[in-house]
Amino acid sequence: MRASTQSVTVRAPAKINIRLGVGPQRPDGFHDLSTVFHALRLSDDVIAERDDKGRVSVDVVAAEGSDVDVAAVPTDETNLAHQAAQALRRYAGVECGVRLTIVKRIPVAGGLAGGSADAAAALVACDAVWETGCGRAELATLGARLGSDVPFSLHGGTVLGSGRGEHLCPVMAPATLHWVLAVADGGLSTPEVYRELDRMRAGGAVAAPSVPAGLLTALRQGDLPEIAAHLGNDLQAAACGLRPGLLDVLDAGEGLGALGGIVSGSGPTVVFLAADADSAHDIADDLAAGGICRAAVPTSGSAAGARVVESVS
Ligand code: C5P
Repeated sequence: MRASTQSVTVRAPAKINIRLGVGPQRPDGFHDLSTVFHALRLSDDVIAERDDKGRVSVDVVAAEGSDVDVAAVPTDETNLAHQAAQALRRYAGVECGVRLTIVKRIPVAGGLAGGSADAAAALVACDAVWETGCGRAELATLGARLGSDVPFSLHGGTVLGSGRGEHLCPVMAPATLHWVLAVADGGLSTPEVYRELDRMRAGGAVAAPSVPAGLLTALRQGDLPEIAAHLGNDLQAAACGLRPGLLDVLDAGEGLGALGGIVSGSGPTVVFLAADADSAHDIADDLAAGGICRAAVPTSGSAAGARVVESVS
């Protein structure tokens, strides 16, 4: 007889939006997006251990060497990974519980979809320890109800996103891209940034968002100057309105030789495209030395979506 899975570790990536077009607010309060999601090699791990007494619990720790503010992450039912476990438990009619330990490296409330990564990892991890046999498509449908970025965190890679972010279509982007994350002190609230955008747009007509064909060509060809020229984020002005210091961070990175820079998602992390891995390390060192941001982290993409990296039976 096959032994049942006692614990698994699942790794899920941070994301940036290489391009983020935001349409008008919809009747349901969300905004239609047209975006290029890109998964980074910066990731969180979620360890799931079966709890035969039927309890669901969450613990959050910083990964070794990481200074992520884990105190800012709730461990109660408001934690997205907790919600993911409960959603799958109900959906699959599971009686067993789970102890989730989130090992964080992705900055909290940074516009890098860290909470969505944790939810995606929890879905994959719980599916494995409970042996529910759900397919990826079912997990993505459950995930979309938890947060707009969860389906992408499951998928990974470089992907065109539409709807509120849950409709995904892979794009060809074979080149490894090197990035520097300028991590800010404290987070920004995503709903607040969207509200600020709506306020800034008030009265004006807002066109349906789209991703320029030139960006897709540049990604296919690994043409870094063209990718840099097409970096764009409709939430950037709103994030900078709420955090004017981000404009100085953008200037600083470009002054240090980055090919281009952009606010990541709803911010406040700023992300810079670098020419190569050495350049990313140099820019990160110089940004950190300048003291303009809390931390500067070199990374690269794309990376895989949520996946099991260790399993114990
Ligand atoms: O889906 P998620 O939980 O990430 O969204 C957080 C908030 O961000 C939403 O409640 C909404 O205010 C805003 N949002 C939006 N349009 C999207 C995604 C998020 O307005 N496409």
